[in-house]
Amino acid sequence: ARYAAITGWGEGLPPAVLTNEDLSTFLDTSDEWITQRTGMKERRISHVSAIDMATLASRRALACAALDAKDLQLIVYGSCSPDEQVPNSASGVQVALGATRAAAMDVNTACTSFLYGLSSATAMIQSGMVDNALVIGVEYISPFMDWSNRNVAVLFGDGAAAVVLQASDEPGGVIGTVLGCDAEARQTLRVRGMGCSYVNGDLHYGDTLWDFDGQAIFKRAVHGMSDACGRVMATAGVSAADIDLVVPHQANLRIIEAVAKYAGVPMERVMLTVQRYGNMSAATVPVSLVDALKEGRITPGSLVLMPGFGGGLTFGALLVRW
Ligand code: ACO
Repeated sequence: ARYAAITGWGEGLPPAVLTNEDLSTFLDTSDEWITQRTGMKERRISHVSAIDMATLASRRALACAALDAKDLQLIVYGSCSPDEQVPNSASGVQVALGATRAAAMDVNTACTSFLYGLSSATAMIQSGMVDNALVIGVEYISPFMDWSNRNVAVLFGDGAAAVVLQASDEPGGVIGTVLGCDAEARQTLRVRGMGCSYVNGDLHYGDTLWDFDGQAIFKRAVHGMSDACGRVMATAGVSAADIDLVVPHQANLRIIEAVAKYAGVPMERVMLTVQRYGNMSAATVPVSLVDALKEGRITPGSLVLMPGFGGGLTFGALLVRW
């Protein structure tokens, strides 16, 4: 059998910080409200493009894996905020890295784009189609934000991270994937102005109006992630006691607490980054993974559970044996 092991990782985080106090200067909100309702304290805002953030993360991941960009066979760019619709963003990373032999594709399932991308790359490695892959989670939400809408403006941040996957004979790596989509509720999170439906209408690209039902998303997020965690653990034959660290999507501290409770994993074994980065959509899970590795919370042999959900409403959970 062929396995897909994570052999490199890296982040591309913007240095500029936007705090709850900063938001309170132009929105009717407060540090107290945001902290209590979401767990967030600050988030990052980028002044370079998404492709630039993704390229920085990718260079670090390739260096970490000691893999030459010229030997890379596949780039999967997970994001819902592409620099342009055509050409795709993965091709922008390909040219920046000089990864001339790599296939390059974008995957957009909103906040779960990294999980869907990692699942796809794993299947392509396991099937023998490719021997290695770079999987990126990146989001540049601030240009698409409605900065006059306190319901959404406080929740999101920009960032990127990437991992290198390589074929291996040793059992481990990505050992379980469950993906799903609660599409009945797809209208609960919608950004009007980002797609072709609006061409020739009253909205222009960049006129971003957010349709957002936070409470409906909250409930379905808890349900979808809990369901995916249960199924991926059952399929892999592992129990909650075997999980060394949960690295969940970070849209809200209370959602994470609810999912951990359902999964039966105590909060001491849950990675939290929501307080320092907010919700970076597709970048959240990989950035949290890299921070956990830097902090020594993941070591060889660790079993890591990564649940996520996002617009669509897509959801999923992956299991990785380090
Ligand atoms: N500052 C101050 N008050 C606010 C703010 C704010 N930034 N935003 C909303 N309020 C007000 C509301 O207007 C409301 O006032 P009202 O009672 O007078 O009507 C009050 O606060 C309570 O609002 P609720 O929506 O009931 O607050 P809730 O506890 O549900 O928290 C939140 C809202 C944080 C959005 C929560 O529902 C949530 O986390 N939802 C799911 C996560 C999510 O949607 N994430 C983003 C996208 S999903 C993804 O990651 C793809």
